[in-house]
Amino acid sequence: MSDIKYSFGLWTIGWRAQDPFGAATRPALDPAESIRKLADLGAWGFTFHDNDVFPFDADESARQAHIDSVKKAAAESGLVCEMVTTDTFQHPIFKDGAFTSNNRQVRRFGLRKVLRNVDLAAEMGASTFVMWGGREGTEYDNSKDLASAHARYAEGIDTVAAYIKSQGYDLRIGLEPKPNEPRGDIFLPTIGHAIALIDTLDNGDIVGLNPETGHEQMAGLNYTHGIALALYCGKLFHIDLNGQHGPKYDQDLVFGHGDLLSAFFTVDLLENGFPNGGPRYEGPRHFDYKPSRTEHLDGVWESAKANMATYDMLAAKAAEYRADSEVQAAFEHAGIFELGESTLAEGETIEQFLASDETYDVDALAERDYGLVKLHQLALKHLIG
Ligand code: GCO
Ligand code: MN
Ligand code: MN
Ligand code: MN
Repeated sequence: MSDIKYSFGLWTIGWRAQDPFGAATRPALDPAESIRKLADLGAWGFTFHDNDVFPFDADESARQAHIDSVKKAAAESGLVCEMVTTDTFQHPIFKDGAFTSNNRQVRRFGLRKVLRNVDLAAEMGASTFVMWGGREGTEYDNSKDLASAHARYAEGIDTVAAYIKSQGYDLRIGLEPKPNEPRGDIFLPTIGHAIALIDTLDNGDIVGLNPETGHEQMAGLNYTHGIALALYCGKLFHIDLNGQHGPKYDQDLVFGHGDLLSAFFTVDLLENGFPNGGPRYEGPRHFDYKPSRTEHLDGVWESAKANMATYDMLAAKAAEYRADSEVQAAFEHAGIFELGESTLAEGETIEQFLASDETYDVDALAERDYGLVKLHQLALKHLIG
């Protein structure tokens, strides 16, 4: 296998496959055993929610015993704990949200749970603290004062960021957008919404994004464009890779098992960067998928391997694609390198620009052929040829 740093949420392989229509089809897995197994399969890291490791109502000694068991497995197997996140969605107390619940006592309880988990993330040596607000939202537009809800969401995130700084922890927050499910409409539904809210925070410098492939696609959006914007804004702190077939329920398929062409261009961007250079994603290739309900334990581990193998294959194809001189010529012909040149010349003022007697051959420019279909077919040739 490649030397790409792959990581998995313990809740992914650990999902027992309960769904709204049926009971679990698989037994619970021991988190420590999962860590050892992931290491055997060639993964580099793991991530978890507090309650993937210890129950919501665990007392202090039980909580510590569960944490110690995970730490031991990580130390023995060499698997790195790179991200920790908080379960603010399973317990009924969070049915109307944690940071945006109409009930202030619930919000204070939720904030306390998250801050406690920040301490755990630091103790585990994680570098990212993900916040997915699955229950932050509504079913009905009159359920909340929507301005206050966004103010409370921002307050909660800013408080967590301020706490991280006050403790001197080497942690950054990754907000995870999702348009719906479990709420009818979730706040911060897309990458763009989250970036806009981060801009209002006092401590927004350590707050960025953890975009998930399927979540943007559920909103009918282009994941590769979304992570490109996050990179451009310096906000791509972490990623959740998986597979999805367009706008429908959250499928959480194996990476590449949904929109394969989109997955190819995601990998091309992550591995090869923008054609004209610019910011690169340096974090782990993290999978947040669910082994299908039809699979038993063999299928769980097959699906974990499939994520890494698919990414490896796409990375190899993307490298060949970029190295192909025909592709580079097609990039040149399409104007992709020209797009890297600023529109105004260096030092050119608006006044100089407006005063210049530059003329445009409008007919010739309108007739310019960009060769984009040919370029895309070259990508397809590398992908499936
Ligand atoms: C989902 C989300 C979650 C989050 C996880 C991390 O749709 O269920 O993707 O899996 O990624 O809770 O906070
Ligand atoms: Mn998902
Ligand atoms: Mn996710
Ligand atoms: Mn998920």
